[in-house]
Amino acid sequence: MNCLPFFIVILHLTNTQNVDSVWTWTCKNQSCEKVRVQPESKPISLAACKISCDPYGTLWPQPTGRVELGGELVPVDPNNIEINENGNENKLVRAGYRHFQTNLQKLGKGAEDQSGKGAKLIVTVKIEDPSQMQLRLTTNESYSLRVSQSSTGSINADIMAPTYFGGRHGLETLGQLIIYDDILNNLQIPNDVYITDGPVYPYRGVLLDTARNYISVDTIKRTIDGISASKLNTFHWHITDSQSFPYVSRSNPDLSRLGAYSPRDVYTPDDVQDVIEYAHERGVRVLPEFDAPAHVGEGWQDTDFVACFNSQPWGQYCVEPPCGQFDPTKPKLYDALEGIYKDMVRQFNPDIFHMGGDEVSISCWNSTYSIVKWMADRGWGTTEEDFIKLWNHFQTQALERFDKHTKEKLPIIMWTSTLTKKEYVEKYLPKDRYIIQVWTAKNDPEIFELLKKGYRLILSNYDALYLDCGYASWVGEGTNWCTPYKGWQSIYNNSPYIYNNANQFLGAEAALWTEQVDDTAVDNRIWPRAAALGERLWAEPAHTWREAENRMLVHRQRLVNRGIAADALEPRWCLQNENNCPT
Ligand SMILES: *[C@@H]1O[C@H](CO)[C@@H](O)[C@H](O)[C@H]1NC(C)=O
Ligand SMILES: *[C@@H]1O[C@H](CO)[C@@H](O)[C@H](O)[C@H]1NC(C)=O
Ligand SMILES: *[C@@H]1O[C@H](CO)[C@@H](O)[C@H](O)[C@H]1NC(C)=O
Repeated sequence: MNCLPFFIVILHLTNTQNVDSVWTWTCKNQSCEKVRVQPESKPISLAACKISCDPYGTLWPQPTGRVELGGELVPVDPNNIEINENGNENKLVRAGYRHFQTNLQKLGKGAEDQSGKGAKLIVTVKIEDPSQMQLRLTTNESYSLRVSQSSTGSINADIMAPTYFGGRHGLETLGQLIIYDDILNNLQIPNDVYITDGPVYPYRGVLLDTARNYISVDTIKRTIDGISASKLNTFHWHITDSQSFPYVSRSNPDLSRLGAYSPRDVYTPDDVQDVIEYAHERGVRVLPEFDAPAHVGEGWQDTDFVACFNSQPWGQYCVEPPCGQFDPTKPKLYDALEGIYKDMVRQFNPDIFHMGGDEVSISCWNSTYSIVKWMADRGWGTTEEDFIKLWNHFQTQALERFDKHTKEKLPIIMWTSTLTKKEYVEKYLPKDRYIIQVWTAKNDPEIFELLKKGYRLILSNYDALYLDCGYASWVGEGTNWCTPYKGWQSIYNNSPYIYNNANQFLGAEAALWTEQVDDTAVDNRIWPRAAALGERLWAEPAHTWREAENRMLVHRQRLVNRGIAADALEPRWCLQNENNCPT
């Protein structure tokens, strides 16, 4: 017994890099098993075991082409990275390199200084067409990645991609191949890797509502970090609603002056620019939504464009307080809208635009005398069909004003609603122009109708993809309307393939509505759950969540490491004891 402290000191002296680990991990049947270190043998960290044990290593999402993770793990020096510019004098590519290095620094935080010990890493990204600077639905996001070790010991990582957007996915994959070994306290990379990869769906989104509660620019940026780490590609910015109008419109500055929660809780043109550039460099499109004709209210007080603003009892005129809906009969409304569209088109330079169209209340319009009179003057009645005609009057004019400010006619996204019902949709929303974002339940017959009619869809079925569900109600007691909470498992398993016409889906989107969320909770409501959607849309795997569970637990840690407060999914014991938790 007296010898024990002495023994520990010796161990410490002879093994300065290693921490004392009693446990080691060994790969058995594609799982890492935790066992005691045997005398005379060296412990292997869990991270080192995992990278070569699972066929997909710890990559998230799993690649869709060839995956060869071979060779041996070699230490790399995060402070000795050579970026081979390779004639790519392109500011996007340079930004991609920078973000790769920043992520590596975060991974290596606390790691032993590898200067002179780890191998040098030489990264080369070859973009076939660097002139493709905008992410579009037709952009080729594929890449290939080869990692090899030269005779001098340095590690070469070569990425080839048709576009920058593929190239940055390659850099993300390369970053995920580098592990932090918590026993040896260094960074390591497998020295013989070949991966070819590309996404199955072109639209892979996360929606964030910044109007029910204000969300800071920093939190929006962290959300974009998570999106790009998970190879999603769209940040859908639901920027205004009836509760607040934080968007500073150059042509209508009164809207945010009156409608923001405070003069500070706004998105100035500089903020918007900042977010767009931040996202662009990370391969993410920022899709602006200006939701109309419903979901408007605050900000418009000095106009007479909004009907039913804060009408009570609200349940008769809208789905949540405060009510508010544009009055389509006011000619000057369209001038104001045109101003907002002009501002947004100039700032966002969008390749797709979201016009909302969510939850229009017919009873709001029907209860507004001047609207019903305007309709009567034209010989219209007050049936649902008549109000849909009124809505079409709005949508047609709004779109005309929008189109005046774009070079080409952009695809327009609208939520499913009365207007998208089978009896109206083809009459009012031509399918070569409109994309429908489906938010109703997965088995809603309307989805099958839209597919039969040939519409392109984005899947956001609330019964899997709404991240705000499962909390307390806020307008009363009990639970909120879309309870229960959607676990990452149901998100992972929610494939557009449940429909026969899966090819009509451009992709899907997870949505965080923020009635009950602000800066303090955005990270853990979205992450890591939206990453489950990331793999579903990137790879459309044939398997269910169970096969992805071990990698998901690692990816969740990766997000935390990069500064995103992603929720814990399980006790860490389950990560350290693979496959011992499933029932
Ligand atoms: C290996 O794992 C698979 C799935 O986890 C299991 O079905 C199979 O029985 C295991 N094989 C052995 C030899 O343990
Ligand atoms: C994307 O580019 C790769 C590499 O050039 C090519 O193999 C692939 O077929 C392209 N994918 C699509 C969908 O065009
Ligand atoms: C509109 O209101 C009138 C009169 O109250 C009613 O008869 C009509 O059914 C309403 N229309 C709809 C679509 O609810």
